[in-house]
Amino acid sequence: MRAKVYIETYGCQMNVADTEVIFAILGKEGYERTEDMSEADVIMANTCSVRDNAEQRIRGRIEVFNQVRKGRPGVLVGILGCMAERLKEELLATGKVDVVAGPDAYRTLPALLAAAASGTPQINVELSRSETYADIDPVRLDKGGVSAFISIMRGCNNVCSYCVVPYTRGAERSRDAHSIVREACDVFHRGYREVTLLGQNVDSYHWEDISFARLLAMVADISPLLRVRFATSNPYDLTDEVLETMASRENICKHIHLPFQSGSDRILEKMRRRNTREGYLERVAKIRSLMPECGITTDVIAGFCSETEEDHQDTLSLMEEVGFDWAFMFQYSERPGTLAARKYPDDVPPEVKTRRLNEIIDLQNRRSLDRYRERIGKRLTVLVEGPSKRGGQLCGRSSDNKMCVFPDGGQKPGEYVDVLVDSCTSATLICTLC
Ligand code: SAH
Ligand code: SF4
Ligand code: F3S
Repeated sequence: MRAKVYIETYGCQMNVADTEVIFAILGKEGYERTEDMSEADVIMANTCSVRDNAEQRIRGRIEVFNQVRKGRPGVLVGILGCMAERLKEELLATGKVDVVAGPDAYRTLPALLAAAASGTPQINVELSRSETYADIDPVRLDKGGVSAFISIMRGCNNVCSYCVVPYTRGAERSRDAHSIVREACDVFHRGYREVTLLGQNVDSYHWEDISFARLLAMVADISPLLRVRFATSNPYDLTDEVLETMASRENICKHIHLPFQSGSDRILEKMRRRNTREGYLERVAKIRSLMPECGITTDVIAGFCSETEEDHQDTLSLMEEVGFDWAFMFQYSERPGTLAARKYPDDVPPEVKTRRLNEIIDLQNRRSLDRYRERIGKRLTVLVEGPSKRGGQLCGRSSDNKMCVFPDGGQKPGEYVDVLVDSCTSATLICTLC
């Protein structure tokens, strides 16, 4: 009987891609994947440390896993990913975890699990300067078989002062471009119609003499039927060359996720972001001049250290000015060990952070609705993903990354369909078939 592995994935898309790599590594050693924790021999969580509430959630899951382990002796519990990297031995000391493995240690998981099975908890949190898992063929978790994540780099060298990622993921490294193109070709031939190239800062990709713009073109040239997306872009190094490459190819989706974090230059500097408000707005203007229909989404943090009402108003006015299609909005959460935690007091009171975040959310909801409304009456090409939650309807995304719902005309996942936008909510375009 093959041992069964169950993995819950938290955090960003890079963690989803990593879980696919982990299943591939374990699969080679005879482990079988299960989606049912109650039949698993190995129960693991691939974790996130980016905010405290992400970690609290995992702590709750560790309790649940431990209950299962108590009820079924022999079951192993593993904590993987960013929280494993940050907390290291502290996780083993709880006595509730058998294996702790950081993001660069997944090749050693079979050995760690084998050793843990004989009763000694195991840990490997070594970070690497070269590991990219380039040779591993990930086990795709997306059931629709339409859209695949491809990790193109790991780590981050930016050290924004609030952010734990450089500590949990280590130094930035880019993956062999040929292995990326091979992987994209391979998924295309298996029927996938969309790839998302992933990195914490994709614009700093460079492998030998290949830049991100070049890589984007290489992947897009595999087939006009293959849609290419990417995330995340950083305003300080999103180059004109990347924008021109996007504009030059229909199948590179017209969507950029471009976090701005704060609209105040004083706060941006304290955050050690390497751009100003003006620099950010200049990038947005450039995107819109080359690609007027491009979707722009963002991340924003409310209540960073020393943020005043005026700084907060700067954030709101930037959001008003840009009119983002969508945003991920957070309250600042101090992360131990980061520059901000060492240097600046976390001095915005929780109720002020919450109030500011709510103002940000209210404004964004209105702007999202505006942006979605602008699409009413337009024709869009949608890549069909599958049935929508509304009965009898299908769903899929437009090039600019908006969820579209339309009547089921018998189209299969992976087909392209032209739709006409009839109406919308602030998160969905409601369409008819053209
Ligand atoms: N590499 C990406 C973002 C990675 S983390 C980039 O640079 O844009 C995803 C988002 O989490 C960030 O954009 C930021 O908005 C948010 N974030 C990161 N650290 C945070 C913290 N300590 N508190 C609150 N939000 C945080
Ligand atoms: Fe964190 Fe900044 Fe790196 Fe993004 S670019 S992962 S926010 S340090
Ligand atoms: Fe979280 Fe790690 Fe991603 S901290 S956001 S899972 S890189």
